[in-house]
Amino acid sequence: MTKTNLPNILITGTPGAGKSKLCEKLSKTLDGDYKYLDVSKIAKQKDFVEEFDEELQCPILDEDKLLDYLEPIMESGGNILEYHGCDFFPERWFQSVFVVRCNNTILFDRLKERNYNDKKVASNVECEIFGTIYEEALEAYNEDIVTEVKGESLKDLEESCKKIKNWVRAWNRK
Ligand SMILES: Nc1ncnc2c1ncn2[C@@H]1O[C@H](COP(=O)(O)OP(=O)(O)OP(=O)(O)O)[C@@H](O)[C@H]1O
Ligand SMILES: [Mg+2]
Repeated sequence: MTKTNLPNILITGTPGAGKSKLCEKLSKTLDGDYKYLDVSKIAKQKDFVEEFDEELQCPILDEDKLLDYLEPIMESGGNILEYHGCDFFPERWFQSVFVVRCNNTILFDRLKERNYNDKKVASNVECEIFGTIYEEALEAYNEDIVTEVKGESLKDLEESCKKIKNWVRAWNRK
């Protein structure tokens, strides 16, 4: 199968839920045809940042520039894309969307460990409690392609990775 036939997979979820950890494991376990793209890192490296939200201490992306950059990459397929939001990507980019979920106590500790300010911790924990990103994914994509996976423990990591690997296998057999 050529790279053009490979699907794109979106890994989304609240900051700290465990997306990067899952993507790193996935890109090791899936064959080398898949490229792991961390949107936050790309935006920083390529300066696709419009301004900085001082209160929440986070960059506000220049979405148009970012989307223009990603378009040809996504068109060629075989990408695992990570971002803590999902509603501004074109729906056609992704054949599968996985939302990493995390218990709020564990998430709180992880965000505290990052030394996020109280407001940022509270806002992200609240986002997870309300399932905001999962809701966003269900609204932005066909709900048949949206799956929740857990990112709390190493056992979850194994299971979530296996689930996605199985999805890729099933896709390849189609
Ligand atoms: N399944 C897991 N089991 C145990 N620890 C995990 C798991 N997933 C992530 N972690 C730990 O939680 C912290 C946050 O994880 P990670 O960086 O993957 O989150 P993220 O969702 O990518 O966050 P961001 O949105 O900021 O990129 C890290 O210290 C990571 O090692
Ligand atoms: Mg990450």
